[in-house]
Amino acid sequence: MTGNASKEAHLPFDALSDRWKSLRARRPIHYDERQGAWQAVDYRSVSAILADPATYSSDFSSVGPTQEDFEVFRKGNFVGMDPPEHRELRTLVSQAFTPRVVNGLGPRIETVCGRLLDDVADRDRFDLVDSLAYPLPIIVIAELLGIPASDHTLFQEWAATLFGGDELGEAPGMDDLERALNAIAPTVREMNGYVLDHIRRCRERPGDDLTSKLLAAEVDGVRLEDQEIVGFVALLLVAGHITTTALLGNAVVTFDRHPGTLSALRADPDLLPDAVEEVLRWLPPFAELGRRTTRDVVIGEQEIPAGSMVVAHLGAANRDPERFGAPDVFDPARRPNPHLTFGHGIHFCFGAPLARLEARIALRMLLERFSGLGVPAYADVTFQNPAVIVGVRHLPVDVTRR
Ligand code: HEM
Repeated sequence: MTGNASKEAHLPFDALSDRWKSLRARRPIHYDERQGAWQAVDYRSVSAILADPATYSSDFSSVGPTQEDFEVFRKGNFVGMDPPEHRELRTLVSQAFTPRVVNGLGPRIETVCGRLLDDVADRDRFDLVDSLAYPLPIIVIAELLGIPASDHTLFQEWAATLFGGDELGEAPGMDDLERALNAIAPTVREMNGYVLDHIRRCRERPGDDLTSKLLAAEVDGVRLEDQEIVGFVALLLVAGHITTTALLGNAVVTFDRHPGTLSALRADPDLLPDAVEEVLRWLPPFAELGRRTTRDVVIGEQEIPAGSMVVAHLGAANRDPERFGAPDVFDPARRPNPHLTFGHGIHFCFGAPLARLEARIALRMLLERFSGLGVPAYADVTFQNPAVIVGVRHLPVDVTRR
């Protein structure tokens, strides 16, 4: 690793850490006028909110834009559904996306990762996001869905629009959200059309891919409609890569800024799974989850009326001193590490095993290939809008080969 003054610079990630720390002073719940939402910042309240979908709904369909594009997208997008619809759809989809399917992807992830690293074999400096953190998860998820991975520049454009957050400030309110959703409607329409064409092709000529399996999956004799599959495939395609891209970039930045971490991992690669969990705790790609109360409720001695917006701060809960010893210390050997980065309860991340597998393989291969890996200048690193996703957009790294 290279040591230089720019490492001491105050990065947007540090500002986030400071924010999560300062939110602790306002635990467990407070109201934010600007956002028009209640803010839950401690581990206990955040877990309680996520564990109670009957009181804290994920369904925002009545507050968002009502264009047809969003209606189609919402149909299979079960992250925005409540029981019983959520359970029905998740159960159907689970039949196609089994642990066996995910575990079987290990060798393919290694091959893709190896090929991407071969492409930068003659370079001493490259952009980790463009060369690895972005293409790896998108190729894996596209192949899984039977979608041509060669279209990945298109998916990158969609993800950049959907998760760019250029329309949003750092603490968006409901009006900002509505404006942002209207701005992304054309992209959602384009994505829906693309995915629907793919579904029709799979119906005509079913393959061994996840989309064809979804078309065949049944619960109590009920199959998914094409429109439901559109929302789900689009959800997987976009949410299934942007978050893992963020995790890989966050891992490299965090290891770089905590001297000794990379050498400890090289000396004992078995530490890698714990180190990945600690990066997830430290910088959750989705730091805030939104819910809407379905009834008057009391939480943390605070009365919250029905119909209120509640923000569950995963970033702050992951630094709660009542749950984590020395929460402001990045400890790659931390165990246990019950972070909330993949959510909690019925919406617990569907892709967590895949994200973990990709991150462990990619980071292990980076360590194996390079004896030195460091960020030369943080001034050249660009960041996503943390209100949407905590991650880097561009991450130039210097490498030394073994
Ligand atoms: C749900 C985070 C990777 C697919 C979630 C939720 C979180 C999350 C916090 C819960 C949302 C809520 O409760 O409102 C992450 C992070 C990832 C990651 C941090 C990577 C580091 C993936 C991948 C896939 C995926 C790779 C697809 C293969 C999903 C799906 C849901 C979900 C389908 C909805 C589950 C449901 O509502 O039942 N994710 N995710 N995620 N994630 Fe992930």
